[in-house]
Amino acid sequence: MKILAVSGSPRIEKRSSTLKLVKMVAENTGCEYDLVSLAGKKIHGCMGCMGCADDNICKLKDDLTPLRDKIAEADAYILGGCNFFSTLNASMHSFLERWYQFRHREQNELWGKPAVTVSVGGVQTEPVAKILEQFCMYNFIQVVDRVEGFGAAGCFYCGYGETCKVGAIHAVHGDGFKITEDNTPCVSKDAACMEKACQTGKNLGKILKNGHDRSKAAQEVRESLMARRGFKKEDKAL
Ligand SMILES: Cc1cc2nc3c(=O)[nH]c(=O)nc-3n(C[C@H](O)[C@H](O)[C@H](O)COP(=O)(O)O)c2cc1C
Repeated sequence: MKILAVSGSPRIEKRSSTLKLVKMVAENTGCEYDLVSLAGKKIHGCMGCMGCADDNICKLKDDLTPLRDKIAEADAYILGGCNFFSTLNASMHSFLERWYQFRHREQNELWGKPAVTVSVGGVQTEPVAKILEQFCMYNFIQVVDRVEGFGAAGCFYCGYGETCKVGAIHAVHGDGFKITEDNTPCVSKDAACMEKACQTGKNLGKILKNGHDRSKAAQEVRESLMARRGFKKEDKAL
């Protein structure tokens, strides 16, 4: 059993709460895993060229190319992204857009695989969690759990955070806030969040070791996707 664990944060490892949480989930699965950080990678968004329609292989050549087979071969996913401007950050969005190459006809390399989503924000995690879940659903991947945590806005590090009037520190804490090591947010300081990541990892490991039924899971995801679109279980489309 091999898991692909992806941190979509573009920030360096030391500062990234997404990477820390993704790692925590992966380490606790008890399974073999590949940890991929998108920091420093150049991954273009999907061009919609349909060059992948024949063979399910994206024709764009960049840092996604060597990851294509890892995505196809993984038994499960841990997908982490962070909140940039109230949506999923662009690096992770581009990375997931390129999964379009797997979506043609009855190609089912991803169908029914279990996934955990990891969402990090400065103040809000829900928009990211929702988008990650939606990406999974479109690929008939079954989200079995989600982990959410809060990280430090860049304003905690930029050097101007205490005086800048447009930054996150002023918006959240107001005038006069003094940045210290102690009040700089990081998921590793949040014991409940790290514990949730640890338990989620253990559960994902159990799901895989207990023999996850991919076709049943794919059918369940497909049904909930179709239900969202207004189809009923007895309709022909299912
Ligand atoms: C360009 C940018 C925009 C951001 N916009 C938001 C936002 O709209 N809402 C929010 O909750 N956090 C926002 N943040 C804060 C990040 O979500 C936070 O820094 C998070 O910890 C980033 O994940 P990381 O620690 O894994 O790099 C933003 C950060 C950046 C750099």
